[in-house]
Amino acid sequence: MYKTLLTSLENNIFVITINRPDKLNAINGDVMNDLSAVLSEIESNNEIKAAIITGAGQKAFVAGADISEFVGLSKEEGTALAKKGQDIFFRIENNSKPIIAAVNGFALGGGCELAMACHFRIASENAKFGQPEVNLGLIPGYGGTQRLVHLIGKGRALELLLSGNMMDAQTALQTGLVNHVVNQDELLPKAKSILETIVSKAPMAVAKCISAANAAYTANGYDIELGSFGDCFATEDMKEGTAAFLEKRKASFKGK
Ligand code: COA
Repeated sequence: MYKTLLTSLENNIFVITINRPDKLNAINGDVMNDLSAVLSEIESNNEIKAAIITGAGQKAFVAGADISEFVGLSKEEGTALAKKGQDIFFRIENNSKPIIAAVNGFALGGGCELAMACHFRIASENAKFGQPEVNLGLIPGYGGTQRLVHLIGKGRALELLLSGNMMDAQTALQTGLVNHVVNQDELLPKAKSILETIVSKAPMAVAKCISAANAAYTANGYDIELGSFGDCFATEDMKEGTAAFLEKRKASFKGK
């Protein structure tokens, strides 16, 4: 179905594997188009309640945008490429269903940006993060200058952006770029186990947590939280969740 992605769906959790291991899963035009299509699948398939993005093989999550496709681009074409990448990564960040990155190796350039667009990240011990665009006379174009500052702070972000150095998994854990570091064998099981907990919750409340948290970087985050909190009172799931607590039973959420 996809040229560059493998997908599987089990227990409402959709696993998306970027599958160009011979090119360290670099994001070329085909990967971009497939990511756009797979986001539509996530948005339209009610069986999918959460997703994991990972990379094929044991070496790389995604080693960046495909550098071979940069050759000969004009200023306008470069801007258009970044716009396409930013738009697709916004669709990940703003997705109402949780999408997490299981970073199984190099997450460089567009790979680090892809991981950062996900709602949160877990990593294997061999993972390495970086924005090495400066080595190419470039800067990140798929949101990396913004999300890296948000996630690890401006000073740490600028060190990575300006030096092109890589950050290992343990440092990524200490700086808050990733939430957990596990053995490579444990990576997908860990990601699935976290998502199994999340998909047992009320889907609309999960979606509103995402949109309110995303609004933390805007001027009206508190207003978004206020409105979303109120909206929850109009849902059957909120009535069910509170009733179940008071009746000392497990809630059964319907996404309504
Ligand atoms: N774009 C296109 N191809 C890439 C790529 C990228 N971002 N990253 C890796 N590849 C390709 C290599 O060209 C190589 O292809 P080949 O076998 O046809 O020559 C293959 O993937 C394997 O990579 P290689 O460099 O041989 O592996 P390595 O273990 O020696 O080094 C890295 C690994 C990640 C350090 C190195 O590949 C690298 O620096 N990649 C580019 C990272 C980058 O600058 N990303 C930001 C892009 S904006």
